[in-house]
Formats: sequence, structure tokens, C-alpha cells
Amino acid sequence: MPKPSLSQILAPYEADPEGYSRLWRQATSEEALRLFLPFFPLPPCRGVDIGAGDGRDATFLAHRGYTMTAVEPSAALRRFAQQRPDANSAVTWVDDALPDLWNVRRSVPEARFRFALLSSVLMHVPEDDHDSAMVALSAILEPCGRVFLSLRQQTDPARLMFPTTVATLTPKIQRAGLRIVHAVENLPSSWRGGSVGVPTWDFLVLEKGAL
Ligand SMILES: C[S@@+](CC[C@H](N)C(=O)[O-])C[C@H]1O[C@@H](n2cnc3c(N)ncnc32)[C@H](O)[C@@H]1O
Repeated sequence: MPKPSLSQILAPYEADPEGYSRLWRQATSEEALRLFLPFFPLPPCRGVDIGAGDGRDATFLAHRGYTMTAVEPSAALRRFAQQRPDANSAVTWVDDALPDLWNVRRSVPEARFRFALLSSVLMHVPEDDHDSAMVALSAILEPCGRVFLSLRQQTDPARLMFPTTVATLTPKIQRAGLRIVHAVENLPSSWRGGSVGVPTWDFLVLEKGAL
């Protein structure tokens, strides 16, 4: 199968941002980020939410005192997120996408991030782009910066997904100068308030080297 374009991957979100937002809001940020929150740096510091969707987590983290950038390639989702009544005007929205994050990288090295969140996003990035994605993440992080990465394991017939495993991702993480500091694999959906076991999820906390 030829590699799908980003616009093919984004098409369901472009068509129904409100419907997907309703789906995502079945879990709160506290629930969705529960396994990551103990590993977050103390605010204030700069963070980036990549594949920020409707801004649920970027807004939540901005309220917790982080200076947040939300990266979202779907114009419909960016618009929807910024028009929500609970939108936080302190969140900076950027049109950009993995694997390269060129728009975000233009501001480096002046502005780097203490952490990057990718909550349920990497399954939309084809596997042969994962090396470049890890390099881009490493490039936008401060030394010792962290990545919070959740991986959805099962596909969804309505959306283009390319699930990946921790085992195949690990050498790519290491080649980019990152290391895994915490991993939880194969959690059922009930971890985030969902009532069913499928899809299952993996959670990784990555850390960039000190130099
Ligand atoms: C399942 S949603 C998750 C949204 C949000 N992170 C959350 O947890 O609610 C996947 C998000 O990834 C975005 N996305 C898809 N492909 C992407 C890419 N190549 N780079 C960055 N984001 C992408 C989609 O537009 C969508 O907002």
C-alpha cells in the first residue's frame, strides 16, 4: 500500500472535529495523563503538546502553570479548539506535524521545551517516519527534557493508524539521544475511565541526555 498523505490521515478530524472532541472528552486530562503526571517537571517551564487535538491537555497544563504550545496539523481541530468556551488564550497554537516539526524547530535553539506530550498520536505516523520523529523530538527538547508518549495498539476502521510496539520504537529512541526512563505496556482502556478493554495502550517516559 502506498504511504498515505497527511491530509488522508487527517481527513476524519477535518470532517468532524466536534464528534472527535466529544469522544476525547469522555476522559479528563487527569485520567488521560494519570501515569505521566508524577514524571512532569515542576512549573513554571515550557511544554509542547504535539497532536493537541481539541486542546484538552494543553489547556489543563496551562492552568497548572506551564507555558504551553499546542501543535496540531488539522486546521479544523485548531479552529475548534480555539473557539471552545474553555479555551485558554495563554496556549500558543502552531500548525505543524510529525515527523519533522519544521515550524516548531524554526524557533530552536532560542526556545526549547522542558517536555513534549504525544498523547495517542504516534499511531498516525507511518513506521518509517519514526526515526525522523524521534530526532525532531530530541531537537526541540532542553537537555534532560522529557517526552510523554502514549501508544494506542489497536487500529480504528474509521481512521488511518499504524500501531507500533515499544520493541520496534526502542532503537529509534536511542539513536535520537533519548532513553526510556519509565514504561508501562498493554494497559486496557479502563485505565482512563473507558469501560472496555480495547484498545490497549503503552506509556513511555523518555528523557534526553544532559548535553
Ligand atoms: C487520537 S487524536 C489525540 C488528540 C489528543 N492528543 C488527545 O489525547 O486527546 C490524534 C491527534 O494527532 C493529530 N495528528 C495526526 N497526525 C499527526 C502528525 N503527523 N503530527 C502531529 N499530529 C498529528 C491529529 O490531528 C489528532 O489531533
